[in-house]
Amino acid sequence: MDSYPMSRTCPLDPPSDYGRLRADHPITRVRLDFDGSDVWLVTRHEDARAVLGDANFSSDFSTPGFPARLTSQPPGPGTFIRMDPPDHTRLRRLLVPEFTRRRMEALRPAIQRIVDGLIDAMAGRTPPVDLVEALALPLPSQVITELLGVPYDDRDFFHETTRLMGDQNVDPERRLKVRNDLRDYLDRLVAVKEEQPADDLLSRLAQGRQEAGVSREEIVGIATLLMVAGYETVANQIAVGTVALLQNPGELAGLKSGPERLAAAVEEVVRHQTVIDYGARRAATADVEVGGQLIRAGEGVVVVLASANRDEERFGDPDRLDLCRDASDHLSFGYGVHQCMGQLLARVQLQVVWETLFRRIPDLRLAVPVEKVPFRYDMFVYGVHELPVTW
Ligand code: HEM
Repeated sequence: MDSYPMSRTCPLDPPSDYGRLRADHPITRVRLDFDGSDVWLVTRHEDARAVLGDANFSSDFSTPGFPARLTSQPPGPGTFIRMDPPDHTRLRRLLVPEFTRRRMEALRPAIQRIVDGLIDAMAGRTPPVDLVEALALPLPSQVITELLGVPYDDRDFFHETTRLMGDQNVDPERRLKVRNDLRDYLDRLVAVKEEQPADDLLSRLAQGRQEAGVSREEIVGIATLLMVAGYETVANQIAVGTVALLQNPGELAGLKSGPERLAAAVEEVVRHQTVIDYGARRAATADVEVGGQLIRAGEGVVVVLASANRDEERFGDPDRLDLCRDASDHLSFGYGVHQCMGQLLARVQLQVVWETLFRRIPDLRLAVPVEKVPFRYDMFVYGVHELPVTW
């Protein structure tokens, strides 16, 4: 039996074992290194969609068989990413009007201003510059804090808390404490928003929650989830996507030559570099057959999004970064009822950041050989710890 997670041989490609499994054992039992438990690993695109679209697979942490890591803590109230309908629906519904395409597009000018400011500051420095610290982290940090209505001055606190929560090497007790600190902070902030509402998402949630049958504690949980889900994901997608683009100069030249293909190009980078590396976890609540394999109630499943995105049955020559392909049904943002709530916000940030970065600094390149870039092999979200660039 294979163990999981598997190791990469090339930092910009998922483990090559995925290809072997897709061909020979697309749904297979593996042993989780985290806790020694056995789960089903789902590696093909079609099967991944089947599992994620099937209500018989639960996202609830307390469902028997759920692949909870030993180091994970049960999620607190409001963490709807780990809930099933109807509770999931009740909480997710509250956020739907906040993340519409219109609302996200309306943020584009503000996002452009933030990116312009960050790139002005970056271009004014003497290279090498760490792109993570100069651009990839501050952009989503500023966007999410502004959207929620969190004082930006507290960004160091947010950066540190989300970093510790995403680090597999941090011991569970410390991770729990950090998460509680973040919740306490957001709890105080929600109290402020109740007293003095402003034009921001947290104020609107605080105002509308009673009517929607949502508790104050749940609002705090939703805010915590948004902070965590919307920050390191985008930061790492920017950073590792930039590496992939710089390593494929022919493709990058196409991107630089005209912005009309920008949206499609971003989808392809997001497909090729799937930062939610360990995929989506589920537990079967009934006996279900997927791709000819019977999965029994109470068994855990890990859907490997990075593998589904490289499935040769769905994407021709899948390991190639091809900015001209139609990558729109990649699974980097998940699929089904839990599909990423913030994907439109992520897309706007990625489109603005790459269009502006390569227009403003056309000679951008890595300042170290790619082998020397510290990739995040040890984190829940894949990416890079640092990215020294020059021009
Ligand atoms: C490149 C950036 C991002 C990636 C790759 C990403 C990926 C994902 C994935 C794969 C899921 C589904 C997990 C599952 O099915 O178990 C998810 C869910 C979620 N994401 Fe994102 N995400 C990104 C950015 C964001 C942003 C910017 C926000 C918010 C501001 C956000 C908020 C959420 C929320 C709230 C959920 C839970 C949805 C639900 O359970 O109904 N994400 N994300």
